[in-house]
Amino acid sequence: MSVTGNSNRDNFSSKFGILAAAAGSAVGLGNVWKFPYVTGQNGGGAFLLIYLACVFILGVTVMLSEFTIGRRAQRNVFGSFKTLAPGTPWYFVGIMGVVAAFVILSFYSAVAGWTLEYIVRSVDGSFQSNESLSNAFSHFITHPFRPIVWQLVFMVLTALIVAGGIKNGIEKYNRILMPLLLLFLIILCVRAVTLPNSLEGIKFLFYPDFSKITAKTVLFAMGQAFFSLSLGMGTLITYSSYFGKKENLASTAVNVSIADTLVAILAGVVIFPAVFAFSIEPSSGPSLVFITLPEIFKQMPLGSLFGVLFFALLAVAALTSTVSVLEVVVAYFSEEFKITRKKAIVISTISISALGVLASLSLGPLSSLLLFKKSIFDLLDFTASNVLLPLGGLFIVIFVGWYMRKDDVLDEVSNSGKLKVKFFPYYRFIVKFIAPLAIAAIFIYSIFFGSLG
Ligand code: PHE
Repeated sequence: MSVTGNSNRDNFSSKFGILAAAAGSAVGLGNVWKFPYVTGQNGGGAFLLIYLACVFILGVTVMLSEFTIGRRAQRNVFGSFKTLAPGTPWYFVGIMGVVAAFVILSFYSAVAGWTLEYIVRSVDGSFQSNESLSNAFSHFITHPFRPIVWQLVFMVLTALIVAGGIKNGIEKYNRILMPLLLLFLIILCVRAVTLPNSLEGIKFLFYPDFSKITAKTVLFAMGQAFFSLSLGMGTLITYSSYFGKKENLASTAVNVSIADTLVAILAGVVIFPAVFAFSIEPSSGPSLVFITLPEIFKQMPLGSLFGVLFFALLAVAALTSTVSVLEVVVAYFSEEFKITRKKAIVISTISISALGVLASLSLGPLSSLLLFKKSIFDLLDFTASNVLLPLGGLFIVIFVGWYMRKDDVLDEVSNSGKLKVKFFPYYRFIVKFIAPLAIAAIFIYSIFFGSLG
């Protein structure tokens, strides 16, 4: 396989398509329910400053490294390491990426399915019923098949988009869905900040409380930046293997990181003013999105409309992320086992769904089945977010910083000398020293002290 070109492969056709697809992968459930709460609870503006530093020093560096690997090799994540480091065990990082994709998609698609149920519930009057919204939520996720049906619907939607290929599937839908997501987000933001008492919520999110900042907060911010930017498992290696040779990798990495961060902040601007306007205690994780917010939509004029908009926003954000994860597995199967993409899509969708159903059932009928003291759902989440992603990211920066030749990296980042890359020495320094040390710190911390959120 040549490292200079692979003209038989489908490719992205436009700069905007590339930006939409990569930002689509990054912007997901992590931005909407995790980021706002983690920020509010961990010192507001002070946490935000640290998060921004993590995104723009560490995140951009890892992203540029993934882009460099993917576009140079023009192969799936496993094939990329085989191509760039033939005869070495580096392909192992690729295998880890494929496994991580499998694992993430299985539990992520369960939650993505819930968003579809909640689009329906926003309009059918369920929020108005006498059952408390918290009971309604736990009834739903422990139901033996209702969440599974939605999960499978979500997997099929994901598979259909991937089946269109890169240009006519992934690029086409991201070009439509990402602007739509932005539109929903802006409408919801305007609604939220014009609610009475909205300033209270803005304060909760942004007021810098430096007394809450500890070493743990810094590690927390790094973990969140990593998951949110879709780093460490080859999603962006796979996507960039379809980038054209004229694409400016560094500016794409910066733009995707800006877009992801902006959406995360705006999601906070939607959620907290609403929470404070209705004097509800801000809660965390799934309950913030599936219990607290429905309570607000129930009380708000035109609540059904805003409910639909909010859950549609979540569904779209999740869909553009699941598409990017499925593509990792599909590209791997189709290229490495020389089968058609169609076959690869059917095989990966069915096998991931099977694991996904198990993850879903582990919240209800199979909740007594524990492995390492965790439900299957939590175990899958932990394995991916706390083990596979940081470890993958660590190997990726070591690969680009220490294994690849400096001239090859420079050649790829500068488009063979056509771009001015004054930042290169800084990038080189971070990718060689700062990033490996910082990521190793997150990894060790999260293994020994449990979830980073
Ligand atoms: N970045 C996505 C989110 O914030 C999740 C994701 C992680 C997607 C890893 C792809 C790979 O929800």
